[in-house]
Parts: sequence; C-alpha cells; structure tokens
Amino acid sequence: MNFQEQFEIYRTHFETYLENRCAGMAFEPQILTESMRYSLLSGGKRIRPVLFFSALEAFGLSFAGEEPLAFALECIHTYSLIHDDLPAMDNDDFRRGRPSNHKVFGEANAILAGDALLSYAFDCMLSECGRDRAHLCAAQALSRAAGAEGMVAGQSLDLLSTGKPGDEKALLAIYRNKTGRLIAAPVVMAAILSGQYQKEAEAFGLALGALFQLTDDILDAVGNRAALGKSIGKDAQEGKLTAVSVYGLEGARRRADESARKCLDVLHTMESADTGFLTQLTEYVRGRDR
Ligand code: IPE
Ligand code: IPE
Ligand code: MG
Ligand code: MG
Ligand code: MG
Repeated sequence: MNFQEQFEIYRTHFETYLENRCAGMAFEPQILTESMRYSLLSGGKRIRPVLFFSALEAFGLSFAGEEPLAFALECIHTYSLIHDDLPAMDNDDFRRGRPSNHKVFGEANAILAGDALLSYAFDCMLSECGRDRAHLCAAQALSRAAGAEGMVAGQSLDLLSTGKPGDEKALLAIYRNKTGRLIAAPVVMAAILSGQYQKEAEAFGLALGALFQLTDDILDAVGNRAALGKSIGKDAQEGKLTAVSVYGLEGARRRADESARKCLDVLHTMESADTGFLTQLTEYVRGRDR
C-alpha cells in the first residue's frame, strides 16, 4: 500500500467516527449544534487524527478503539480555528473552503461553538480515563498541550507579537506553542499508550509542528486560496510575526528543510518502531500545498 492509500485509510476511519458523533449531537438550542457541526464537518485535512492513528501503529498498537481521543483532539483543534478567525484575533472570513464560523453564525455564536467544542473534548477524554492509567496520562498530555502552557499560550504570544516582525526568539516560542504542541500531542499520546519513546515522540512532534507552521507561513505568502481553503496574504497585511517576516521566503524554505531533516533524524533513533508512514508524512508536510 502506498502512502496516499494508507493516509486515506486513517482519514476515512476518523471521518466515519466523526460523522457518527456529529449525527448524535442534539444540543439545544439547535444553533449551537449546527455551528459545532458546521466547523467540524467542513473538511479539514485531519492531520492530527491521522498522526495519532499512525503513531499508535508505529508503536505496535491498534488504532481501533482509540477514536475518542482522536475526536477530542480534532474538537480542540477546530475550536482553536474558530476562535483564531474571529475579528478580535486574525479576522479571517474564509476557512476550510467556506465562510468562517462567525460569518455564518455571528461572532457570539462562534465564540460559544468554540467553548462548547473545547468542553466536549474534555467530556470525550474523561470517558476514556477509566480504562487505565495510560489513558489518563494521555488525556492529561492533550489537556496541557491545548491550554495555558500550550496552544493558548502560543496564540497569546502571536497576538502580542503582531506588528513586531523580526523577533526570532518570540517566533520560536509561537511555533512551539501555538502549533507544535497540538501536532506533537497525538504522537506523545500514542507513545504514552504504548509505554515507550515518549521523549522521542515529543521531539519528533515539535519538529513536525515547526515544519507544519513553516509551510503554513510560506503558503500564506505564496499559496493558492482555493487549494488552501483559507485566505492568503493576511500575515503580511496584519503585520504577523512569521517565518517569512523573520527569515524571508527563501530562508523560511531552508528552515523547513532543516525541520524536516530533524524529524527524520529523530525517527531514526526509534529503532524498534515502524516509522515508514511517519517518514512519508514528514515529506508530505514539507511538500504540501494545502
Ligand atoms: C491550521 O491547521 C492551523 C495551524 C496550526 C497552521 P490545519 O492546516 O491542520 O487546518 P485544517 O484542520 O486542515 O483545516
Ligand atoms: C493558528 O495559526 C494556529 C492556531 C492555533 C489556530 P495561524 O493563524 O497561522 O493559522 P491559519 O493560517 O489562520 O490557519
Ligand atoms: Mg492566528
Ligand atoms: Mg489565523
Ligand atoms: Mg497561518
């Protein structure tokens, strides 16, 4: 099986689970359910769930039965996108190929859809915690990656740094927190569940997160709006601190190559893991156009 086929297996397995969970949502008032479903079902790449399933397999575990943690992760990621697009943050009207949540449901409902998705993620995680101590630790790792020492901290620094392009130290902290922690979380959770390679999983995940945000910043500068499904040119317009503002386009591309190399170096150290798919996933992220 080639990489693309394997990616599709993980992705469709997750998508089926996600659709079932969304079909079962019946929160009142109905607009709350509708706005949560709108963003969850609007065709993200699902890279974090795919990372989780593939890392579980790399570490010798089956991914069947671990869908709730993948779902919690995607709920947290989706809430972060809804809030990221709000006028008070990046003020983006276009996301995942359609109008942003607040453009359809209004700002207040978009804030609440994000709140509800975050809380719902904790509900899903807590349901798994009784299984064993490893699931409890995995849920805790995801909680930390999402919050004030992870993604939220990164978003806060991202906003503070807007209008001050050029600070490399701040850029690296933003990369690590706003993107790296939620990209590393699925790999770290898989390592925790398998009882091995936790340090390596974190090092790989953070390097992949840096690569992911480097390509995100590059694509904001030179990508295609239709392929990306989101606005382009916004980072420069808003004076965001990005890899392109600090290193220039060519410098950012060089850093992306370096981050990809770092990912592969870490994978090589995990000798008993089956890292073939994660190797190809690294190359896919480096070359992505969406
Ligand atoms: C976008 O994440 C936000 C970043 C961290 C750069 P993705 O590029 O994974 O967004 P979706 O889930 O595919 O829409
Ligand atoms: C946002 O980074 C990362 C999140 C935590 C949502 P960006 O603001 O660059 O993400 P996009 O480009 O809007 O997807
Ligand atoms: Mg942002
Ligand atoms: Mg944004
Ligand atoms: Mg961006």
